[in-house]
Amino acid sequence: MVDIHSHVLPKIDDGSSSFYESLDMLRIAGAKGTKKMICTPHFYNPRTGFFDKKRTVEVFEGLKSRSYNLGIELLLGCEVFCSDLFLREINKKNFFTLNGTDYLLVEFDFKDDIDRVLFAIDIITEAGYIPVVAHPERYSFLRRDEYYVEKFLSKGVLFQLNTSSLAGFHGERAFNFADWMLRQKFASFVASDTHDTVYRSPDLRSAYMWIYGNYSKDYAEELFFDNPEALVSGQKIITRW
Ligand SMILES: [Fe+2]
Repeated sequence: MVDIHSHVLPKIDDGSSSFYESLDMLRIAGAKGTKKMICTPHFYNPRTGFFDKKRTVEVFEGLKSRSYNLGIELLLGCEVFCSDLFLREINKKNFFTLNGTDYLLVEFDFKDDIDRVLFAIDIITEAGYIPVVAHPERYSFLRRDEYYVEKFLSKGVLFQLNTSSLAGFHGERAFNFADWMLRQKFASFVASDTHDTVYRSPDLRSAYMWIYGNYSKDYAEELFFDNPEALVSGQKIITRW
């Protein structure tokens, strides 16, 4: 499987706190069937503060060399918080797309305004990127009206659900919305958004098995294998709606 969303780089954001913890996270991921993982530290997020491309690359290379024998290919990206500053300076490219493709992992303030978010999506697509919206099931501005989800999709947005939401970690509303999105086939990816080894672990297999059993084998294959593989190689994602 390919995990397109992880906070496995140590001491970069609120994810892993050391190389030891990162290696433990990678061991768990490997044992649960992950073959490729994109490291996606928070960028432009006021909660995690300072970010720096050069330092991120150094830490990424450090983790790669320390984990060479674990059987997981590490790739680089980031999770961009759509702040006003980011939208103003998007053309400076002070961020990493997912494995250097046109796909950009984006997140929003949980209390953001729907009109501002739709405007942000337009800015991102006009700059030439394909927005992959992280954990849409956690946003109240999307949960408010199904119409907004379709509006997002019509703008070329792709949705990535979190395994933690499917496990109920983010509450009933997030779980129910994720369930609804899966039934509509509106999600293109499920990723771990791992921050540690326990509470938000890198285990993809449990969610894969759950989707296999509750929805369909074909959709599980698309969410965990086919779509993320296409993403890391910059190919078009086939959508089902
Ligand atoms: Fe994240």
